[in-house]
Amino acid sequence: MSQGDDRQPDLIANLDFHVEAGLDLFLDEAPHDRFAEIDAPEPARAASSRPVLERQAPEGVRPPADETFRTELPPRGPAPPPARTYGQSASARPGEAAGDARARAKDVQTLEELEALLAGFDGCPLKFTAKNLVFADGNPAAKLMFIGEAPGADEDRVGKPFMGRSGKLLDRMMAAIGLDRSNAYVTNIVPWRPPGNRNPTPQEVSICKPFIERQIELADPDLIVCLGSPATQAITGTKDGILKARGRFYPYRVGNREIRALATLHPAYLLRQPLQKRLAWRDFRTLRAALDGKAGAV
Ligand code: URA
Repeated sequence: MSQGDDRQPDLIANLDFHVEAGLDLFLDEAPHDRFAEIDAPEPARAASSRPVLERQAPEGVRPPADETFRTELPPRGPAPPPARTYGQSASARPGEAAGDARARAKDVQTLEELEALLAGFDGCPLKFTAKNLVFADGNPAAKLMFIGEAPGADEDRVGKPFMGRSGKLLDRMMAAIGLDRSNAYVTNIVPWRPPGNRNPTPQEVSICKPFIERQIELADPDLIVCLGSPATQAITGTKDGILKARGRFYPYRVGNREIRALATLHPAYLLRQPLQKRLAWRDFRTLRAALDGKAGAV
């Protein structure tokens, strides 16, 4: 094996490390010590005779007015604001992307069309770091819908929600009240994995929200279970933390119909805090009673 071959795995491991750590955007072609640059005397910072790298905008990316991207090599002033932090779509701003998502989601009439729409939607930057779209699993005709936060590494690899350790726990919790994925529909508020398993940002959630809202409308369940705080807040609008919100039903309006949304703890949280499973168990018994139409499960 040549020296080059020996180094390859290190390079790949290094890249993997950075992707896992959340690095999802290249700002420049070479590393810079920005602290040293800020301390440098003013004239050095203002140097303007640097070479300029020009390249054509990639397909699908709205170029600046002069039709090229200009990268000064090496930039020496304080770090410029990133030119583009919101994906590579025509909808460069989160507000625009969310509006675009809303307009497009309204037009689809089936869950299959919604999945296809998401697969072609470039307005969320998470799409460009994820391996796969993670749309849904389980039975779309079920009267119960579980909504989590966002896919993790296992889900990203497989392309289905709740496939990893928290998915296994969710399956066990469902089994404890006589459910499985043949009688429940499972999805997330964000259908692409945030790099490094970080939480999705509020902007990413707001871009994806029209899609999950349309998904609920099309699946038309009788009951929703929100798993964890981000899903609960996005779906019910509550600002309460999950320990306060859990165990409660919130009204969720779809047209003239009101669906009930139960908040409970996320299985990933339960894996970290196993003692809290007793609270989740209470919530799942409430859920069972609601599915059975028992009085008091409101
Ligand atoms: N956590 C989630 O919220 N969703 C998944 O699909 C997996 C883990």
